[in-house]
Amino acid sequence: MKLRQEPLVIGNWKMNPQTDTVAKRLATEIKKALARQDDVEVVLTPPAPFLGIVHAVRGGGKVFALGAQNVHPERLGAHTGEVSIPMLQSFDVRYVIVGHSERRKAGETEEAVHAKIDAVIKAGMHAVLCVGEVKRDHAAQYLSDIERQVRTACAGLSRAKLAHLIVAYEPVWAIGTGQTATPEDVHEMRLFIEKTLSDLYGRNYAQKVRILYGGSVQDKNAGELMQNGMIDGFLVGGASLSAKEFSGIVKAAAAHSPV
Ligand code: PGA
Repeated sequence: MKLRQEPLVIGNWKMNPQTDTVAKRLATEIKKALARQDDVEVVLTPPAPFLGIVHAVRGGGKVFALGAQNVHPERLGAHTGEVSIPMLQSFDVRYVIVGHSERRKAGETEEAVHAKIDAVIKAGMHAVLCVGEVKRDHAAQYLSDIERQVRTACAGLSRAKLAHLIVAYEPVWAIGTGQTATPEDVHEMRLFIEKTLSDLYGRNYAQKVRILYGGSVQDKNAGELMQNGMIDGFLVGGASLSAKEFSGIVKAAAAHSPV
């Protein structure tokens, strides 16, 4: 199978690091480690208060793009504690993670996920829709859960906008646990998500959507997951907090890309 675009690797810093000094250092180290890696699209998603400092480190360069971990679906209004799309765009944020399982666990509904996907894509940014099962069951109920998550999030989204959608398959049991899905499972889920999108949009359009894997990705398992999982890249949590680990994952994605 051929990938349609260069691999995409997104670092999700979550609620880390704790100071702007460390955020600046981490972004600087990642920029240095990946300075010559121009065959992978790299995105860093720091916490909102550090977007400015990471944006400054980026300095208009092409080593990485900037992403956000969440956004409010409305552009304006009285929404204490929320961050709007125009605020993100003022830091040249191009990607927004939507529906991460940690946010769903904190109460984010599938309707809210849908509204955010819609708003992000309408604003011309890329939405990274996270889907994944909490556990695997023998009756394969988890497949219908994932199908529903994809269908609800994409409701009303036109074919023309699909190139702005990225789906990250992140089984909840694999996030931060050191327990990674097997490359075979990852491949199966890639095909399943692609089939769900094909049923909605037709095969040619569905193939425009990049499908990533996330859940305990490390530099030592990234190559095999990429090659045998036949995915378009990774959404990386814990390992994105080390420039060495994260750049190792990016390099493995480039070296093992099934292009
Ligand atoms: P992890 O997190 O790499 O630490 O498992 C992935 C994620 O939550 O996106």
